[in-house]
Amino acid sequence: MPDAYILGIESSCDETAAAVVRSGEQLVSNVVASQIATHQPYGGVVPELASREHLRAIVPVVNQALAEAKHTYDSIDAIAVTQGPGLAGALLVGISYAKALAFALDKPLIAVNHLEGHIHAVLLDRSQNREPQIGNCELQFPVLALVVSGGHTHLYLATQNRDSWTYENIGHTRDDAAGEAFDKVAKLLGLGYPGGPVIDRLSTHGDSKAVKFASAQIKHPDRRGRKDGRRVSAASGHPRFDFSYSGIKTAILRHVETHNMRNAIEKRRKALSQIAKLKLEDYLANCDGQTLDLVASFQRAIVDDLVEKTLAAAQAYESATLFVTGGVAANQELRQTFEREAAQQGLPVFFPSRPLSTDNAAMIAAAAYPKFLAKHFAPMDFSAEAGMVLK
Ligand code: KG4
Ligand code: ZN
Repeated sequence: MPDAYILGIESSCDETAAAVVRSGEQLVSNVVASQIATHQPYGGVVPELASREHLRAIVPVVNQALAEAKHTYDSIDAIAVTQGPGLAGALLVGISYAKALAFALDKPLIAVNHLEGHIHAVLLDRSQNREPQIGNCELQFPVLALVVSGGHTHLYLATQNRDSWTYENIGHTRDDAAGEAFDKVAKLLGLGYPGGPVIDRLSTHGDSKAVKFASAQIKHPDRRGRKDGRRVSAASGHPRFDFSYSGIKTAILRHVETHNMRNAIEKRRKALSQIAKLKLEDYLANCDGQTLDLVASFQRAIVDDLVEKTLAAAQAYESATLFVTGGVAANQELRQTFEREAAQQGLPVFFPSRPLSTDNAAMIAAAAYPKFLAKHFAPMDFSAEAGMVLK
């Protein structure tokens, strides 16, 4: 089979990204223009600002991805773009540009689900990553994929039929996504946006056993039926493994109030907002032991819950391989805990490299490859699907 070079475009949230990937696995170029600085003052992504920033960045980002790949518009084989889920206005910028390119260049256009992109990020490139990748070993199905990011916490059981992948959702968050909890807790503690990376780095400086969270704070009272004490889907009768992260955020808020942490938080918020490029030392200089312990305990609780439910699901569904992906999969403690616990269960676990865990376009080009082979091309009138589900 000749090599296929796919140009991927991703604009579902706050990163404008473009990449060229060879035959679904080899990263040829990967450009990500982050909007963090634009959204930071608001403590979260502002949809209108995101669309405006995508409009500014899309042309230079795509040009840079092609130039770094030593490709031209003519030499690529197909154009892949994120259809959803995501912010409608943000998605439309990438989709409109991809359609225009495909039309003008007479190249196939492939629409990709962002969540499928996160899953296929695991398959990407070995040469650039020193972290454990699948390499050339045969992938065993069914694959259980935990997609854990700022907008999503989903468990998918993935199977493969010829080249095409199909997915069954066997669990998701009932309220906040895990990354959203990281972001909200960081905001609450005056640590800025996004919360995940800073909590990840600060956690090693605190005692993760210092603050105990009641299990009810991360276990949503189940509203669906139970069978032998296990949650089951009302429709299929299969076990479900749902998550809930809004309770722990409320528990942290209560902890802040009862431990009189408000003044220290406001002082920290002000101090950190005056530093242009924040380093770990700046955060540490502005965090007392009580805050570091709280942050470490919060991270431990989230990690334990994600690992426990995912491994229980892997057992219940007899999955042969585990993928852990999405922005939160960049978390060091999450990776270490999954590696340790999955090994005990004899389950091979794979992650994308840390840069490919968060949003990027290489994952979109990778997920497009099986569709390219199957000639599953998108019609010119397809549109953004903000609430798109993965099947
Ligand atoms: O996948 P992503 O870039 O965007 C979405 O699809 O949502 O994920 C972004 C999320 C944010 O909530 C961010 O705080 C979180 O991933 N994140 C992390 C880490 N790096 C990013 N969470 C925990 N630890 C990290 N190292
Ligand atoms: Zn994402």
